[in-house]
Amino acid sequence: VRLRARRHFRVTDRFPFSAAAQRNAPPILELLRELLRDRFEVLEVGSGTGQHAVHFAAALPHLRWQASDRAENLPGIRAWLAEAGLDNTPDPLLLDVNGPWPRHRFDAVYSANTLHIMSWEEVIRFFSQLPDVMTPNALLIVYGPFNRDGAFTSPSNADFDAALRASAPHMGIRDIADVDALAQQAGLEMLADHPMPANNRCVVWRRRSA
Ligand SMILES: C[S@@+](CC[C@H](N)C(=O)[O-])C[C@H]1O[C@@H](n2cnc3c(N)ncnc32)[C@H](O)[C@@H]1O
Repeated sequence: VRLRARRHFRVTDRFPFSAAAQRNAPPILELLRELLRDRFEVLEVGSGTGQHAVHFAAALPHLRWQASDRAENLPGIRAWLAEAGLDNTPDPLLLDVNGPWPRHRFDAVYSANTLHIMSWEEVIRFFSQLPDVMTPNALLIVYGPFNRDGAFTSPSNADFDAALRASAPHMGIRDIADVDALAQQAGLEMLADHPMPANNRCVVWRRRSA
């Protein structure tokens, strides 16, 4: 996918641009190709700039990619989607995990770099709402940094966590065991925990069918 934000970014602020999203999209896509091969509809929570939505929807045209985010990010996401002109990206939904949530079920939910930005109460709310938007056997795919056994997995993640907490005390890198406990309460079982570049993970859960 040819992402043309840089050119536009110089002349207009209509296209918010995340260097991290640009960098991590290709390795995430390699996983998504396999994970989403037999999926139809993906709900992306916290789409941010919209770069991931464009990148993944363009590369996976069999999917309907439903971007969403809080109100302040919707104009930027809309700009990216309009520029790309794809036919599998509906208008982004207004979705703050605090609610209300869409009244529709998806066979996959994707969220990148959101759980350390949300407060822990919002992370709890995110998982508690998932059963209402996931079909039986739907996948949940979460990309981002995680702690393990209560410890940072790298010095750079420790630095990142300190910077997050300095800018807002409710933010911070979550422990994968705490997140998995919420997932289990929501009826999800972990299928895989993929290592990703720059000390990130891509964690995959499946909703139990019964
Ligand atoms: C670091 S950005 C990641 C954006 C994008 N997914 C990416 O990987 O580039 C964090 C995102 O989480 C979203 N977010 C934070 N709190 C949220 C909430 N309560 N409900 C929904 N989204 C939230 C923000 O609006 C933002 O888009």
